[in-house]
Amino acid sequence: MVKKFVFLSFLVLSFSSYLLASQPQLKITHGPYLQNVSANEVTIVWTTDKPCKSWVEFNEKEAGKHFYTTAPRRAYSSCDGLYCVDTLHRVTVTGLEKNKTYCYRVLSQEVEELLPYRPLMGSIVSTDVWKKPLSFTTLDDEADTISVVMINDIHGKNDVQRDLLSMVPQQAFDMALFCGDMCNYIDNQDDIFSGFLDTSVKLFASKKPFVYVRGNHETRGAYARSFSKYFAGPTGRFYYAFSYGPVRFIVLDSGEDKPDTDVEYSGLVDFDNYMLRQRDWLKRELESPEFRNASFRVVLSHIPFLESGWYGSERLSKQLLPLLEEARIDLMLSGHNHAFSFSEKGKNRSFPIVVNSNNSLLTLSGTKSSLKVQVKRIDGKVLLEKEFVK
Ligand SMILES: [Fe+2]
Repeated sequence: MVKKFVFLSFLVLSFSSYLLASQPQLKITHGPYLQNVSANEVTIVWTTDKPCKSWVEFNEKEAGKHFYTTAPRRAYSSCDGLYCVDTLHRVTVTGLEKNKTYCYRVLSQEVEELLPYRPLMGSIVSTDVWKKPLSFTTLDDEADTISVVMINDIHGKNDVQRDLLSMVPQQAFDMALFCGDMCNYIDNQDDIFSGFLDTSVKLFASKKPFVYVRGNHETRGAYARSFSKYFAGPTGRFYYAFSYGPVRFIVLDSGEDKPDTDVEYSGLVDFDNYMLRQRDWLKRELESPEFRNASFRVVLSHIPFLESGWYGSERLSKQLLPLLEEARIDLMLSGHNHAFSFSEKGKNRSFPIVVNSNNSLLTLSGTKSSLKVQVKRIDGKVLLEKEFVK
């Protein structure tokens, strides 16, 4: 009798172990990647294959010390008193010190069933801290140097993105600018990650941030209305400004290229009104002390503020250009045309405009008194080298 009971118990235990082992493991499916790094905060984004509660553990990086030398601090994302439960996770870590490197890992715990009482929690997945923890470095808002790279109009070509970003060593830049049309259109989450984000994470984005400038192609597709959830600018919109060392960057959303009434949009776009709201915001930004006191003012816009005869460009010229013309802008960086061009200050506009191509890398580096821009084609040919001096 005892033997029979032991045998049955063994069978039950083996079957339970089999069931557990055959359960698909919780996975981090994309990321993590860094967004909106400033002197005292950063937002870290990743996805899982099941709904989870998520958090970040972080610690100051100190030479010779392990991640676990001191207990790591934690940051969660919550809304209205509830920890977020989702497959897309955005955790903002605040209270950081400027110009400091922190090690971090992201953790997600599956919420198996969100019951009204005692919700069922599952297993935990995390990034590794044993071999080499991930890290980020906060910005120094008083730094007098800057080093960024910019690409645009990749349209999902991962190999071109990789080759362009590999033209400079990773340690040579602190931040990447994606100046629009990195995707063809956005029908689902996978279009974002397979378009450019997984490649970005592989190359640099878990350790260095990128800034997203929305292109007209990212306004298209069934999932375009969810695109903003994957990025975290300081305003939660696609137009915003941020300071990085001696430069005040203004990121504009240049919208679509055809009139709102065009048959291609089926009456589902409202860029004329959107541009007016952006104009109100831009007016306020141009009066801010951050803008006025910056050594250099650089505008990022996917569609360049040049005459093209297209409705989108005309709308920018009418609604936003007059404000910029009066604001002593030092440089505008753009894409969209799939061809390089450089327009000197005073030729078309009161500020110089660099249009980067879809097969060239733009690097921007400088100090409080000098801003250097270089555009290098994928085959190594230098298309532009320019220095702006104060
Ligand atoms: Fe475009």
